[in-house]
Amino acid sequence: MRRIETAAELREASRAARRDGRRVGFVPTMGALHAGHLSLVEEARRRADVVVLSIFVNPTQFGPAEDLASYPRDLPRDAALAEAAGVDILFHPASASTLYPPGEATRVTVSRLTDHLCGPRRPGHFEGVATVVTKLLVICQPDVAIFGRKDYQQWRVIERLARDLMLPVEIVGAPLKRDADGLALSSRNVTLGADGRRAALCLPRALAAGAEAVAAGERSPEAILGRMRTLVEAERRARIDYLEIVEPEELQPLLRIEGAALLAGAVFVGSTRLIDNREIAAPA
Ligand code: PAF
Repeated sequence: MRRIETAAELREASRAARRDGRRVGFVPTMGALHAGHLSLVEEARRRADVVVLSIFVNPTQFGPAEDLASYPRDLPRDAALAEAAGVDILFHPASASTLYPPGEATRVTVSRLTDHLCGPRRPGHFEGVATVVTKLLVICQPDVAIFGRKDYQQWRVIERLARDLMLPVEIVGAPLKRDADGLALSSRNVTLGADGRRAALCLPRALAAGAEAVAAGERSPEAILGRMRTLVEAERRARIDYLEIVEPEELQPLLRIEGAALLAGAVFVGSTRLIDNREIAAPA
């Protein structure tokens, strides 16, 4: 596995691969790799000849009160996992100025799709994500880039920005991965103790109950959200940030569930904020 720290070197390595007729697959991450990330690498390997994985804890997507300083970082462990998973190029910018050069003044904003869910609760977050992902896609110029559907809104936002900015890349949303106990895999899970982890399970449980209610014929988002809220509120260590039911492409709230829908939520367990979602299709 080749390790690259500069944008110029990554641009050249990717260009050389494409010149040789090889497809480039890209998996952007912030490190603290887990089985969910490795499944994205697997997906990239299925779709491309050369897999590039980036590790960059992007400062612009964290709010002032968020966990930028304490975000888990372990480059040697991540590099070993990436290599074992078959990553060909690990891009790890030496410092934030590699992607945010002195005097930088440009941000990428995706509207509408960021009006609900995490958008209003994390002001500036999606602008930071859209900005860094645009930079990474411009530098790497992959044929295909893979994002996890655990961050469902992020995937849809990036899909939109790639379409709107006419970037010549296919954006793929890979399935959300769960641990055996049902918790969605997330780099932040390591910050939960055993008790916190048990508490966090109220979110997947609430989403599963919501999905079951739809399968049983309930079509009112309010009624379903009420049941979900009751389940999360029964866990005293959890605090709801939001629970919402939206249409799965434009991410606007639904007045009635007919066809495809996304049940999504965010809860705090202590200071750890966890998100999760379930994609459902109401039978006609
Ligand atoms: O999902 C992530 O890890 C990050 O938001 C991303 C896409 C790497 C941008 O920093």
